[in-house]
This record gives sequence, structure tokens and C-alpha cells, in this order.
Amino acid sequence: MTDHVQISDTTLRDGEQAAGVAFSLDDKVEIAKQLNRLGVDEVEAGFPGSSEAEVAAIQAVSRVVTGRRTAVLVRALRSDIDKGAEALKFAEQPVATLFAPVSELHIRVKFGKTLDEVLAMIEDAVQYACKRFQQVIFSGEDVTRADPETLERCYLTALSAGASMVSVPDTVGYAQPEEFGRLVARVRALVGPDTGVRIHCHNDLGVGVANSLAAVRHGANIVSCTFNGIGERAGNAALEEIVAALAIREDYYQRKTRLKLDEIYATSQLVSRLSGVAIGDTKPIVGANAFAHSAGIHQHGVLQDRSTYEIASPSLIGAPERGLVIGKHTGHHGLRAKLTQLHVDLPSQGAFDAVLAEVKLRAHNGTDIDDATLLSIVKGHVN
Ligand code: KIV
Ligand code: ZN
Repeated sequence: MTDHVQISDTTLRDGEQAAGVAFSLDDKVEIAKQLNRLGVDEVEAGFPGSSEAEVAAIQAVSRVVTGRRTAVLVRALRSDIDKGAEALKFAEQPVATLFAPVSELHIRVKFGKTLDEVLAMIEDAVQYACKRFQQVIFSGEDVTRADPETLERCYLTALSAGASMVSVPDTVGYAQPEEFGRLVARVRALVGPDTGVRIHCHNDLGVGVANSLAAVRHGANIVSCTFNGIGERAGNAALEEIVAALAIREDYYQRKTRLKLDEIYATSQLVSRLSGVAIGDTKPIVGANAFAHSAGIHQHGVLQDRSTYEIASPSLIGAPERGLVIGKHTGHHGLRAKLTQLHVDLPSQGAFDAVLAEVKLRAHNGTDIDDATLLSIVKGHVN
């Protein structure tokens, strides 16, 4: 197995399950082309069981996904598998992720079946899917609340029926990082070193990214995630955060992805625009403030050496420089640097002090001072 961590992007499938999000066919194709540029290892294009329109959209997506896997999500039903095969008939590397319930709650309450019935269903569905797809990945559903022995029986049944990888989703975002790491280590020990282990984390308790990274430390080699963390309920683990952590803390994880990191910002912006889901200012890696320095002490440090308060440069992910924010926390060093950037040379220390005082007054309510406003403040103090 390769040593890099593979990324399976599910923005088009689980990402679209975010309340209020609906991508058009053209949106999906545009996002898929960008995911190609970014270099993800797998594009999960959709859930063909949902509609004919979804099948058509997956077909369109699969035509532009080249040099990597295109995946669909299917239930362990022959009818779903047939729709999946139809949806991926043009794909270069078609993959089915076939899922079945594995927790007692899902098996009994949601499904009204016994474990033996579920095992029989998994065996039949995996065998049927293997004849129609290049690869079949078996995914449990609600894995983190499942009895470990039941889970192992489900995975072993799927593998002996022909599945080539297993997927470990935290469907309801219930697991905690150390616990999820231990679970993944157990699955890795069960399937051996040569079988792919994909993980897929939801963010209900705000630890989707932490769980994904813990899984990588414990033997997962494929991470399923979405751009900007969009997805069902509180969303999925955010791709950009996982990939950036693996790159910036390579010393710790010892494995990184093969993505073109400088396409991350553009992809995040595209997904935000087409999904209509805004990116919070303080969102790690891609938020407007992720690389902005506001406090006087921080600005002073960054002006001497950026690494004092920056763990990476925005250019790493292709983001524009945000640099120094002029606002209520700005100090002498920050203002002086900003004025130099704007080619402003104030005639005296008195004028400088007056400009700084007015900046602080105007920004008192939290409004940052943009360049045009700063220049008008300067003007008021030099004439
Ligand atoms: O979260 C999940 O379990 C999923 C599928 C694999 C059903 O998105
Ligand atoms: Zn999911």
C-alpha cells in the first residue's frame, strides 16, 4: 500500500446533503473539474438511488474525472447497485461504496432485520456489485455505535464476498479522537496491511477533523471529507483542514497527501459560491481571518518574522495575503508598516499619533479600517 494518505472528496454527495444545498448538474461538473485540478484520489459523485437526475449528474461528473476513482454510494440492494453501474458506465475507474447498517440500533430499529439477515444481504450485494464495478468498498453504517464483534463479522463477510476495501464512518459524529483511533487500529489489524481502510467522520461534536487525523495515525489510508466541512447535520470533516494539518505537521503525522495544496483556496471559494454556504471569518485555513493579524503585539512580531505568529503562509493554499488588519488593536508598528505599503510619509510624529488616535476611535466598535478610509484619515491630518 502507498504511504501517502488518499483523499476521497464527498462534497458532491454528503456535502450536498447539507440542509439547503442543491448543486445543479453544471455546478457538479464545475466542482468535479476543480477536484481534478486539486488532485484528489477519489471523487464521490453522488447517490444514484435518489433520482434519475442524480444518475445523469453522476454520468456528467464521471466524464470529467480523469486519472482517479469516481465513486457512488449504494445501499446493499441489487436495484441500487444497478443504478450505480448505470451512473458510472462512462467512468475511468468506477467504484461502488456499498453500505449496510452495523449497529444494533440501525439493524433492529431502522431496518427491522436480524444480524444474520444483514450478513446474508451484505454477501449477496457485494458479490453482485463486484461483477459490475472495478472496485467495491464496503462501508458499515453507524459503525461507532456498533458492537465490535458484529462490526468485524460484517467486514469479514464483505471482504470474503469480494470487497477490496472497508470504510469506517462515524455516521452520527459520536466518537472521540482517541476512541476513534483505537477503533481504526482494530479494523486495520482485522483486515491486514494490504487492504484499504477509508474513514468518514461527521462533525456533530466538533471533532470530525480531529477524529480523521487520529484515524490516519492509527492506520487509515483513505480519508473521506468535504470542502468547507459541508454535509449532513453539523457537516463532515473539512478537507482543507485535514490536508493542511497533514502538510504543516508532517513532522508529527509522517504521511501527507498528494494534493496540489495551492488549489485549496480556489476550491473552497468555488464550493462556497455554488453551495451558498458562507465561510466563517475564523474558519481554519480558508476563513477571511485565517491569516490576518490584528493585535499590535502580533503585528509587531509578524513584521519582524512572519513565523512568529504564522504556522504557514497563505500562499501554501493559494490564498491571497491578508496581512495587517488596521483596527482597534493596531499599534505603532502595524500602522507604520501599513502606511509604508500605501506609500504614505507623514510629516511629523504628531501627525502619526493623530492618525493612530483617529484609527482607534473609528474602529472602536470593531469595524476594521480599509485602505481608502485610512487614506482619508491621513488626508484630514496632513492639510
Ligand atoms: O455517514 C455515513 O455513514 C455516510 C454513508 C457511508 C452512509 O455518509
Ligand atoms: Zn456521511
